[in-house]
Amino acid sequence: MTDRFLMCPPNHFEVAYVINPWMEGNIALGSNDIATRQWEALARLIGQVARVERMTPAAGVPDMVFTANAGLILGDKCVLSRFRHPERQAEEPHFGAWFRENGFDVLELPPDMVFEGAGDALLDRGEPLLWLGHGHRSTLECVPLLKEFLGIEIEPLRLVDERFYHLDTCLCPLEGGYLMYYPAAFDAESQARIMARVPADRRIAVGHADAHDFACNAVNSAGTVFMNRASKGLVRELQSRGFNVKQTPLTEFMKAGGSAKCLTLKLTEDRQSPDAGNLDARSVA
Ligand code: ARG
Repeated sequence: MTDRFLMCPPNHFEVAYVINPWMEGNIALGSNDIATRQWEALARLIGQVARVERMTPAAGVPDMVFTANAGLILGDKCVLSRFRHPERQAEEPHFGAWFRENGFDVLELPPDMVFEGAGDALLDRGEPLLWLGHGHRSTLECVPLLKEFLGIEIEPLRLVDERFYHLDTCLCPLEGGYLMYYPAAFDAESQARIMARVPADRRIAVGHADAHDFACNAVNSAGTVFMNRASKGLVRELQSRGFNVKQTPLTEFMKAGGSAKCLTLKLTEDRQSPDAGNLDARSVA
């Protein structure tokens, strides 16, 4: 099956406020022209192996380009995000409308529960398991509701470096059950949990420089890994596991703290768990 990814064109993208360390000192310093070229190049590359669906961008919500944060998808179910920062909360109705119009069964979490979608909740590619990052944005309060709605096991991971504030900035499940990640972004217990769950030959630990180039913020589809940049060593390592690596500069988006993965939301997430969720789609607010 060809994967489908949701992307939101950067017509209104800019760094207009600071809600993560990457944005500091970058307010109004970006170029929307360059951002648009970089975004189109990423969409074109991903479009060579998958389908890219473009949503209509809205004014006044510059971070809406980061569709990874729209929600979490599993099968035809979608858990709509509840953003921590007021600056991003205005994106919620836009994403909610898109999911409903496109046939998803949407769960709305209670208004005070922070959950930033596929920025913090990543499906493992080896087993039916959801990795959930917490410590900066999403909290663990949503775990019982997510479990009930999606019927999937959840493994929480605590993030401890504020530059890696979303799980998808420092961890990337890859086809074949591989897991590329930056160990220093996690507390010791979470690092141990990753090592206990993922066999050594499936773990790809990246170093400080690659992590700060957003190498873990990668999109993986049909055997290809798309990312801003990777060292020769990391490219070789991924190639040795059978992946094609495509690098495309996303520096304008890094000024806002995002890169390839943040700019996409995979819409085709198969249910791997035999234990289907049974919570009816409804608002539990
Ligand atoms: N400026 C955005 C924020 O701080 C960037 C979001 C990046 N998205 C992601 N999935 N990591 O929320």
